[in-house]
Amino acid sequence: MTATVFLLNGPNLNLLGSREPDIYGSQTLCDIEAMVRDRANDLGLAVDFRQSNHEGDLVDWLHEAQREGARAVLLNAGAYTHTSIALLDAIKAIAVPVIEVHLSDPGTREPFRHHSYVAIAAVATVQGLGAQSYIVALEKVAAL
Ligand code: DQA
Repeated sequence: MTATVFLLNGPNLNLLGSREPDIYGSQTLCDIEAMVRDRANDLGLAVDFRQSNHEGDLVDWLHEAQREGARAVLLNAGAYTHTSIALLDAIKAIAVPVIEVHLSDPGTREPFRHHSYVAIAAVATVQGLGAQSYIVALEKVAAL
């Protein structure tokens, strides 16, 4: 059976393409999804690609990844990265490995972006490569 990777995107990532393109690039989330699906196909992985602006959806989807036996979760939690103990607890509550993903490198931005709750429990972080961060993270899953 083909292994499935959940790719979960948090708040404001639905606006990629028009949102602060100097920081996040000009590709839309749909463009990124298409890129990810192509690469996943090459790697023999199925992708469940989702976006929500609501913290609880991301928590529910992490639980679902566990129930559904996902191979891994790639999580770009957006700003919830820096605020959400609920997401940290959800990652700790599941056995599925979670890789943290960011388009930008939050560590080189405003100080309030320097702390990541997600990183405390994630098995790896890929950041600062623009849309390519998602591809590198997917390749890490293939190597797990
Ligand atoms: C982001 C970085 C976060 O600090 C920010 O709040 C986002 C996007 C990124 O992909 O670079 O919404 O997760």
